[in-house]
Amino acid sequence: MSDATAKKEERRKVQAIHGTRDLLPPETELWNRVERTAHEVFATFGYGEIRLPIFEQTELFARAVGDETDIVLKELYRVEELRLARLQSTIEAIGSFASDPNAEVYGILYLKFCQEALEELKRGRIPRTSKNVELLGQFEQQKERIEADFFGANRERSELPNHSVFLRKIALELDLGEEISLRPEATASVCRAYIEHNMQQLPQPVKLYYTGPMFRRERPQKGRYRQFYQIGAEILGGTDAPAIDAEVIEMLMTFFDKCGLQGFTLYINSIGHNADNCRRGYVANLKAALEKVKDKLGPDSQRRIDTNPLRVLDSKLESEQAIIATLPHIADHLCDECKTHYAEVKRQLEVRGVLYQENWRLVRGLDYYMRTTFEITAPGLGSQNAVCGGGRYDGLVELLGGPPTKGIGFAIGEDRLILSLQESGKGQVQQGRDVYIAWMGEHAYAAAIRAAKDLRKAGFSVELPPVEQKFGKALGQADKLGAKYALILGDNEVSEALWTLKTLADGSQQKLPEPDLIDFLHKQKSASQ
Ligand code: HAM
Repeated sequence: MSDATAKKEERRKVQAIHGTRDLLPPETELWNRVERTAHEVFATFGYGEIRLPIFEQTELFARAVGDETDIVLKELYRVEELRLARLQSTIEAIGSFASDPNAEVYGILYLKFCQEALEELKRGRIPRTSKNVELLGQFEQQKERIEADFFGANRERSELPNHSVFLRKIALELDLGEEISLRPEATASVCRAYIEHNMQQLPQPVKLYYTGPMFRRERPQKGRYRQFYQIGAEILGGTDAPAIDAEVIEMLMTFFDKCGLQGFTLYINSIGHNADNCRRGYVANLKAALEKVKDKLGPDSQRRIDTNPLRVLDSKLESEQAIIATLPHIADHLCDECKTHYAEVKRQLEVRGVLYQENWRLVRGLDYYMRTTFEITAPGLGSQNAVCGGGRYDGLVELLGGPPTKGIGFAIGEDRLILSLQESGKGQVQQGRDVYIAWMGEHAYAAAIRAAKDLRKAGFSVELPPVEQKFGKALGQADKLGAKYALILGDNEVSEALWTLKTLADGSQQKLPEPDLIDFLHKQKSASQ
């Protein structure tokens, strides 16, 4: 590389990672407005906020979301240094080697593993359990001799098989610690927290909501990011009365209305429960039907016939739509209890005046759902038009080691909600300042500092230029910042104790004594609201 290219390379701009983005003002004001609305609306339904860690043990997501789902298989951001863990699995797979012609090569692999593990233990990157300390202590004692036998000038090849047995045993017995992943969603974490804090001892149900970033390694496009934001709510414990499902959905509708979201549609479905006379029976039926049309399906759907036949119903492929339309419907296979539950959810929605459409293909991409599932789509989003997804997950807390517990909830994609609000013109945010203080002269500056302090205390946004400007320039600056008023403070204003306030929209001006300023601005503000 030439010097010039090297310099250029050094100066290359560091950019945000593909699929992540910065949210900037004034748009962030809209984000804050949406989040404030969530805090207010959810509180009126008795929900309290939970703040969760952004990373958890990978196992939590594998167990809750499902280790065969796209989210866990393909999209999880694993945080931990996985090299040693992968190497450990390789060593395990190699098996017995004594008579293998590659025995020596394998021995070198085991030695490398133990060398690295010893370094990692010293750096505190693998757990300092007494067993790990003992195992790597044994290795450290023999390290020089083993290295000499493998690589030294007078190497003792006959010793290598013994060394390999010794090293392999250490490698397999070492505890490399937990695997950690960035959260792809938060329902699993809420259930983990419910168990960890014995929330089943609180009055049931426990109603919680959260906001924050989630991470999925998906292909980025409009409305689909690798770091995205959710606003979610979960209701855990107590009964599975259909009124709970209906009220959760009613809360969502109230929230979307308050945000000003327009033209959205609620889709609902019931996917029954995991029993032979219910969903399991349906899945067997569906699988048989899919086998018959297998040749006409794309490779993804063909694979899903074996791994997760329900997900075929999710397919957006144009060429598969006509075939999917001929498949059996789950509604015809629900057990009596699930059928009654679903009918009552619909009735309860009607009582609450919530409009819905049924969609028998709504199966959702996470394993924990049962019975009620729902999704909300909004306009202006292109193909990624789901602004919210949710459903019931009665077995999940138990699956994670807690007591049998009912559960239902949803998560709103905040990025998509904001996009839809902006597309429909409901995303305007107030820009600019209330008052720009144009000051000239030392005396005026002291008055300007005092005015800024008092105005800010009264809740007005104020721009106080740090250096003196000619009035003409100051007014131009006030205009650029979108200020509503310019407070003009010069020698005359200070000596007369009468301040000049200019309304920038129409250029009108008035003189006000200092004590009247805030009162005047308050009156103007309430008159304009
Ligand atoms: P989900 O359907 O995977 O459900 O995600 C919920 C919402 O998050 C989606 O409808 C979408 O608006 C948004 N979303 C998902 N992935 C992305 C992405 N890559 N970029 C932008 N937005 C995205 C869940 O996460 C469940 N935990 C919901 C739930 C809560 N079910 C019960 N309780």
